[in-house]
Order: sequence, then C-alpha cells, then structure tokens
Amino acid sequence: MSGGWKIFVTRCRQAFPTEAMDKLEQFCQVTYHTEDKPVPKETLLQQIKEKDGLLCLLTDKIDSQVLEAASQTLKVVGTMSVGTDHLDIQELKSRSIRIGYTPDVLTDATADLAVAILLATSRRLMEGNQALRTGGWSSWNPLWMCGPGLNGATVGILGLGRIGMAIMNRLKPFGVAQFIYSGRSKKQDHVENGAKFVSFDSLVESADFLVISTAYTEQMRGLFNKSVFDRMKTSAVLINISRGGIINQEDLYNALKDNQIFGAGLDVMEPEPLPVDHPLTKLDNCLLIPHLGSAELQTRGLMANMTVENILAALSGDKPMPAELK
Ligand code: DGY
Repeated sequence: MSGGWKIFVTRCRQAFPTEAMDKLEQFCQVTYHTEDKPVPKETLLQQIKEKDGLLCLLTDKIDSQVLEAASQTLKVVGTMSVGTDHLDIQELKSRSIRIGYTPDVLTDATADLAVAILLATSRRLMEGNQALRTGGWSSWNPLWMCGPGLNGATVGILGLGRIGMAIMNRLKPFGVAQFIYSGRSKKQDHVENGAKFVSFDSLVESADFLVISTAYTEQMRGLFNKSVFDRMKTSAVLINISRGGIINQEDLYNALKDNQIFGAGLDVMEPEPLPVDHPLTKLDNCLLIPHLGSAELQTRGLMANMTVENILAALSGDKPMPAELK
C-alpha cells in the first residue's frame, strides 16, 4: 500500500479508539476536528477541500453542499455507523465517491440493547427505580408497577434484517407465541426462521411488542403517526432502535399521555440530543436512551477499525473494502 492520502476526521483524535487511528495515520495525513462534538458545517466545508477521504459519524450530514465543497480529490467517505441516512447516497454515487459503513460488527450489541430497552419499558424498570429514589415505594402492592410479559406474546418486528433477526433470536427463549414481521418484501424461509411476513397494518394491529429495527430512509418520516397509534393495542409496547424520524413524536406523546399504547422505549429520537425539557421526557411510560445501540467498548473498536480499513482499501485499491455500500 502506498499512502500519503489526505483525510479529514470529523471528531478529535481522542474521540476514537487509538488503535484504529494509529493505523490510519500510518498511511495517511490525517486532520482531525478539534473537538469531541459534531463538526460545524462551516468547518466541514473548509476542511473537506482537497481531501482524498472523509471519516465521519452519523451526526455529520454529508449532503450536496459538502460534496460540492470537496474537490475532485475526494474518493471515499467512511462512516463509523451502520446507518447511512445522514449521507446523500445518490449524490455520492453520481460523483463516483465510494461509501464505507459498518454492518455486522454492531449487530449483537444493538440487538442486546433493543432487548434491554424492551424489558425495561414493559417491566417499568426506570419508573420503579425513580419511585424508589423519590419515596414513591410505599409497600409491595399486587398491581403496582406491573406491565405486560413476553410469555405468550406476539412480537412484531419492522425490518427483519441483521439486527431484527438478532433481536428475534434473543427473544425466542422468553416464550414468545409468535413473531411477525413487515418490511419491503418477504424473506426466504431459512431467514424468516419461523417468523410470519405480514402487512404493515397487520403488524401494528397484532403486535403486543413492536420493535422498529428497519434501515431508515427519509420516505419513512413520520410513518408511526396518530393513525398507527390508534390502531395499536392499548397494551402494546413500542421500541425504536432505527432512527427518530420514523416516529411522529407529537403523535407519540399524545398516544402515551392518553394511554392509547402501554409504553415506548426509544434509543433514537429527533433531535439528538433531545432537549431535556422535551414533552416526552415528562412521561413515565416513555423510556429514553441516548442512542446507545452500539455503545459497547469492543464493538466501537471494531467499528472504528472497519471504518479505517474501508477508507484504506478504497484509496489503495489493493483489496476490496470490508463493507462498501453499493
Ligand atoms: C448506527 O451505527 O447507525 C447505529 O445507529 C448506532 O447505534
């Protein structure tokens, strides 16, 4: 591998696992953003000029303005995420800029978190903990802090991809009666692994637990709105680990406030960070987690390594990128 390529990284060096950045610096001239916060647009527009590669995160919107500012030199964008909704894919492709992302390595961590949020929401763990800390625990009462169980339940999954399947496999031993799923198309039998493909309407109407684990595109904005919440079971628990935009948060707030559904557990929301005084933060039946799906130390190391390997492979042309979005 030759080297000397110019790379801009959208966070400061300390924000990343060291080993991955050592590798990047071995072959490239790397400029880092100065802070461990999303890079301001103006800085990005300046820094991207004359770079061969960009290493970005899901917090960086790589749109036509950014790509316009990049010179003809830009050959690869490597995002340290499996989600790519922050990238203008069409624009990148039209400019023949290659796209690296990080599937597979975060599947287990993200599925673990989805299950954790599902159980914490249905069994009201945060609410119970809060009651304990604030004097709200008066005695052991038969119906206090009760919630729906997984045994005998119907679990609906929107998006039976890698992460959706991993969630299903984790939930099987809990005695779930039936898994149903919806998405663009029916999967092959061996992929479905016993789950039943249903329409979106049937998914929302039948699920006791509904997990949104689909890859997000802008066309899905607000898909979960009042009309969907009206059709869900009043005992249903909604979990979102996809992207915040898929839920109309105002409608969700009203549905939760009026107990139209039992509860919601969200790892993703809009905007991120969610303002601390956002109406959703006031609801006991809404569990909010600050986008921690892949936040497992080993996983973040693997994601960083894969991102660097994607960039180096694209620039050197020596070998295929470990994960290229085609
Ligand atoms: C991703 O990588 O897109 C996930 O949202 C991380 O949790």
